[in-house]
Amino acid sequence: MRMRIARSREGGKVTHYDLYKIDLKKGMTVLDALFQIQDRMDPSLSFRYSCRGAVCGSCSMLINKEPRLACRTQVAKIREENMRLKAFPAIVETPSGWNPDKEILVEPLPNMIILKDLVVDMSKFYDALESMRLWVDPEMNEEAFLQSPEDRKRIERYVNCILCAICYGSCPVNAENEEYIGPAALAKAWRFHEDTRIRNHTRYVETARVASGAPMCELIMNCVKACPKGVAPGGAIRMIKQNE
Ligand code: SF4
Ligand code: FES
Repeated sequence: MRMRIARSREGGKVTHYDLYKIDLKKGMTVLDALFQIQDRMDPSLSFRYSCRGAVCGSCSMLINKEPRLACRTQVAKIREENMRLKAFPAIVETPSGWNPDKEILVEPLPNMIILKDLVVDMSKFYDALESMRLWVDPEMNEEAFLQSPEDRKRIERYVNCILCAICYGSCPVNAENEEYIGPAALAKAWRFHEDTRIRNHTRYVETARVASGAPMCELIMNCVKACPKGVAPGGAIRMIKQNE
């Protein structure tokens, strides 16, 4: 098996692609393959990871033109899965020479500035969360409140978000509009709105309705198809829009 990997020594843009021959092992993930390349062939290859178990959200990248967690994507199974995403340039344009029958193509997550190789700058993604103040205001929520299992279940899928930014990287609106807050932050705003323990819950949805928020979403739903944790941000955004 060969792996064609986007390289960017100076950052900013992909400068070229390098081709590596992988010694394929049973159950090998794309992250395992990247380690093999780094250990045996090219120590300069840069990529981000931490937990290796689909928990930290660090290893998001474009694999065979679909945004995925490298630690959760088995090399042998990549061709069996198809997210059927709505197309935009980053997930359509392929490098010359790529043979999809014989090679796995690995590129940085779209809609982010490339720092080096497969490492992207997540600042815009995190800034959106911070600008919306997506946390509990302690001064408004001094008492502790119990929550029923049913109420907890209503927010469960949003709580499962690992901030991997795959939804952001799969979104055609983010691809065209730098200012768009993106699916994850809007889903998190809905999570706080729906949390029965929070007293001033309406402020979260009001924040989500700013011009660069939910009104910009075209409900394309790439985020729902690509999210590795089943958060389905598009459903939350639809609810925010309906609450307008
Ligand atoms: S909503 Fe899903 S895809 Fe988006 S950051 Fe959270 S876990 Fe990742
Ligand atoms: S390394 Fe943590 S999610 Fe992949």
